Parts: sequence; structure tokens; C-alpha cells
Amino acid sequence: MDQPLDWQRVAQAVARQTIGCHVEYRAVTGSTNDDARALAQGGAPEGVVVVADTQTRGRGRTGKSPWLTPPRTSIAVSIILHPRQPEALARISMLAGVAAAEAITEVAGVPARLKWPNDVMIGERKVGGVLVESALAGSSVAFAIAGVGINGNLPAAALGPLPDAAVPPATLLDEVGHEVEREALLIRLLEHFDRLYRQLQVGEAAAVAQRYRVLLDTLGRRVRLLGVDAAPVEGVAEAVDNDGTLVLRLDSGERRAFLYGEVSCR
Ligand code: BTN
Repeated sequence: MDQPLDWQRVAQAVARQTIGCHVEYRAVTGSTNDDARALAQGGAPEGVVVVADTQTRGRGRTGKSPWLTPPRTSIAVSIILHPRQPEALARISMLAGVAAAEAITEVAGVPARLKWPNDVMIGERKVGGVLVESALAGSSVAFAIAGVGINGNLPAAALGPLPDAAVPPATLLDEVGHEVEREALLIRLLEHFDRLYRQLQVGEAAAVAQRYRVLLDTLGRRVRLLGVDAAPVEGVAEAVDNDGTLVLRLDSGERRAFLYGEVSCR
């Protein structure tokens, strides 16, 4: 613990890819998503990556609580993308989850899976998350930022009591029992991201979605969906389509589709 990220090693390893063509490092920042947004607004091309050793105002998807990135322990990375179609945004979010889960499984040696829409899980605990943000220009996408956070070399207890801990946090240190090389994890994440993003670009969204479904723990389970109606919606998760829409079979027998929400498994 406590070693700064060797970001130059990471930058060198991924320099020939689109994703990682340029890496910006911040020892301390508010949010890498905000930094990436500023770079994109200034004209940064697709594939530019911002990585930080500490975030002081990291954002989570629900906005209920901050996303914590304590100094020199974890992964906080944001990738600038220039997809053309707004439909790509949900697919990028699935892709980012897949890239993170596959990188963790390979580098940390513990099987990581996904919880809809894109929580990265080890067992029933959340080790990482994805936050995709975008800016529109008329009806097309000006740019998108795919942010990924992974809890790394720290005990989960160090993350403190989380106010919305419907899903308890996991860290790689706790799960693996020793420190994980953050550089190797980040390189693998960016490699998977690059490969999957190329698949999307050549019209293979179905293949990316299929990989996502294979990693998804939510299908077939009884779930409670929060944040869509005033009261939680309960049902069995029957399907996720190629755009990430979740279909629940409600107790009434009705099938209902959801684009967003927070799943807690029953
Ligand atoms: C979630 O709530 O599950 C999403 C968490 C996303 C956190 C990452 S860390 C890098 C990037 N910068 C942020 O401020 N958030 C994302």
C-alpha cells in the first residue's frame, strides 16, 4: 500500500490502443469524470484516459453518497469517448462493467460478476461501479465519459459506514488476502475496454451484451427495484436486452421494462 500508481507503465502498455492513446495522471483530484469532461470540452479525442490516485469528490451513480477513493489504494479512471448515437451510452455502460469484471477476475484471481445495471460484485458485495456521463449536441452525443471505480488495496472497514449500503462494499485486499498490482489491473481493464469498444463500433453490440448477460448475476432472481416508482417494485428478473433494459415479471404476471433503477436481490 501507499505506493503511487506507476501510471507511466500503464500509459506505455496501452499507448497503441485507441483507449489509452493518452493518459493523464492526477495524484489528487475531485473527480476523474469531471477532469475528463473538461478535457473533452477542450477537444480531447476518443480514448484519452484520466486516472487518479485519490479522489476527494468521487461521484457514484445514485448521487446519494460519494464514491470513495482513498489515497493510493484503488482504481479511479475515466475514459473519453465519442460515440455517434445516443443508443451507444447504455451499451458503453454494460461494456465498462464487463471490462472491469474481467480485469478483476484475471488479475486478482477472484471471480467478479455484475449486478444490473453495472455494479461489479464479488459474491454479494460490491467491489466496483461504473458511471457513464454524456453531453449532447442536439440529438447526437457530443462526448461520453465512462468512469470506473474499483476498491483496491484497503480493508472495506476503511471505507467507513456507507449511508446507502444496501449493497455492502468489498475490496480486493479483503477478498484476495493480499495486495493486487493496480497497474496490472488498470492495464487489463483498458485492454478489455478497447477490445469491447471496437466490437461496438463494428456493429457487434449483441456480442458485448451476450458477454454482459453471462456475467450478470441478476437474471432469474427475485429482485426489488428501487428508485423508479415511489414504492419498490418487486419481481423476477427475466431478461436484459442488448441495450441493457431489464425486464421484470411482476407478481401480477405483468412484464415491465426498466432502463434504470437500483436492484437489491431478495
Ligand atoms: C457507482 O455508484 O456504482 C458508480 C461509481 C463510479 C465511480 C467512478 S471512480 C472514477 C469516476 N470518477 C467519479 O467521480 N466516479 C467514477
